[in-house]
This record gives sequence, C-alpha cells and structure tokens, in this order.
Amino acid sequence: MPLAPHTTLGIGGEAEWLCTPVDHGDLALALRLCHRHGVPWRVLGGGSNLVVADEGVRGMVLMPRGVCFGYLTVSGVRVVAGAAVKLARLLRRATDWGLAGLEGLAGIPGRLGGAVVGNAGGRWGDIGPLVAGVAGFTGEGERVKLPRAALSFGYRGSNLSELVVTAVELELRPGVKDKISGQMADIISERRAGQPLKERSAGCIFRNPTGASAGELIDRAGLKGRRLGGAEVSSLHANFIVNRGGATAGDVLELARVARRAVQEQFDVALELEVQLWPEREL
Ligand code: EPU
Repeated sequence: MPLAPHTTLGIGGEAEWLCTPVDHGDLALALRLCHRHGVPWRVLGGGSNLVVADEGVRGMVLMPRGVCFGYLTVSGVRVVAGAAVKLARLLRRATDWGLAGLEGLAGIPGRLGGAVVGNAGGRWGDIGPLVAGVAGFTGEGERVKLPRAALSFGYRGSNLSELVVTAVELELRPGVKDKISGQMADIISERRAGQPLKERSAGCIFRNPTGASAGELIDRAGLKGRRLGGAEVSSLHANFIVNRGGATAGDVLELARVARRAVQEQFDVALELEVQLWPEREL
C-alpha cells in the first residue's frame, strides 16, 4: 500500500501492511497481533513532519480513521476530540464555541494525535500546555488514560511516542469568537508570508539550534532555491524542502545533507533533523 498519498510531502514507498482501524477493538487487535509476532508498527496521522523512504517501510502502518477517532465534543472550556481530527477542523469548532487558546496552531497541517505527540506549535504557542489528558493504547494493545500530571512536553516532542493516542482532552479558555477568528487569520497570513504553505513539504526539516534559526542559517549559506531532482530548498523559508513534482525521498534527503554540510562548514553548527524519517535512521 503506497504511503505517498497520505503524506504532505507526497513522497514515499509502500507499507508492508497498512491497517485503518475504525474502532478501539480493531486497533487493539492490530497492536496485539504486531506484539505477538514481533512486527514493528507506526502510526500515520496527517502525514506532515514525515519523510517516508522510497523503498517504503517494513511492518504495520496504522491509520486510525472514522467517527471513533474523529469526534469532537465540548463541555464548558473542555474539548474532547479523537486523535484523527484535523487541526484545522478543531480550530474552526473551538472558534465557533468561543473557546480560545488554540490560535497559535492556525495554519499548521496535520491531525490532533500527531500534533500532541509532537507538541506542535511555534512562535505563537504550542499545544502541550492546553492538553488536560490523553487516552490511547500501549504497544501491547492495553488501553491507557493519562492525566495531565503524567504528560510531559518539550520542543516538538512529548513522552507519548510509544503510545497510539486515540483521544485528547484540551482545556481552553472562554473567548470572543470574532477576536479568536481575527487572531487566527492574522497568524495564518503571517505564516503564509514566510512559509511555503501552498507547496508540498514536510514542514521544517531541521530543529532550530539553541539561540539560532535553522532556516536563517541555510538561507545565509546561500541555499534558497537549490534544486536536486524534484526537490527544492524553498525560496520563501530555507528550512522547508518542497516537492516541485516528481521528487523522491532520496532527493529530499540528499538536499537536506547538502544544507547540513553547508551550515556545518560555514557556521560550525550541527543541524539535527526535526522531521521523522521512516524507517528511523540518521540523515
Ligand atoms: N529566516 C531567514 N531566512 C529564512 C528563514 C528564516 O532569514 O529562509 C529568519 C527570519 O527572518 C527570522 C528568523 O530567521 O528572523 C526566524 O524565522 P521564523 O520566524 O520563520 O521562525 P523559524 O525559527 O525559522 C520556527 C519553527 C516553525 C514555526 C515558526 C513560527 C522550528 C524548526 N521552526 O521557525 O515550525 O512555524 O517558528 O512559529 O522550530 C515546523 O515545526 O515544522 C515549523 C515550520
């Protein structure tokens, strides 16, 4: 089953098995089977922040979908939502409900589960501080519920990467609908001006080194617009590699190596990947 159509970059080979569980029973069964037979599994959410190798991945790719993972409910300032809910939909509903807090995520692609596991966010705020609890399954197929006190979030990461998150409880704040939607619109237009949101990419390729911006360093190394096969360092933001059509994962990764080498040579800074590589490996 080809994974490319399920990624924002639009690149990548096949999964050995692709499973789209539609309820908790399906998901638990798939995980138990993987556990029993020693089959590695991975979760594919919105497919952003991800580069799948051209040769694909061994094992099981789980893609939870359907109402069991796509519901959205509200009670006061608490929103409970399935992990497969798209961030854009969550933000629209929170705005309609007059709930503030998620504005900083405006314009970020992907789905809620991946956003929480990867603590999605940026200059305008991260999702982690809004998370009041998480439900999911362990790799053994056991259901778990984690309260806020059991969660920890860092720069684009959390302690949830070994779980399959199925639902998230968020604690938002009462707000004024027009003000919330105005702030979201401002953030989206600021993002649009500085990031290639209309092109196919995996988001920022490298993490920002302490006290510096990876994009600025790659830009100063003169690499904006550098092309390799179908992949190109974005001329809008140098920490994005865009698929200009027909790019392979090989093109994207080679271009990332070119950028990393140039930054190392010119500024003596070692860039680290922010995107996930499937299969997991060094650049
Ligand atoms: N800059 C350049 N050239 C470039 C890109 C940036 O000179 O090609 C400069 C900008 O002018 C600015 C500075 O570098 O002075 C910082 O740039 P920006 O504000 O775009 O932020 P960033 O540090 O590059 C981070 C996150 C983004 C997030 C934005 C906005 C990382 C690696 N990047 O980018 O996250 O959207 O802040 O909050 O943490 C992502 O995680 O995939 C991602 C894109």
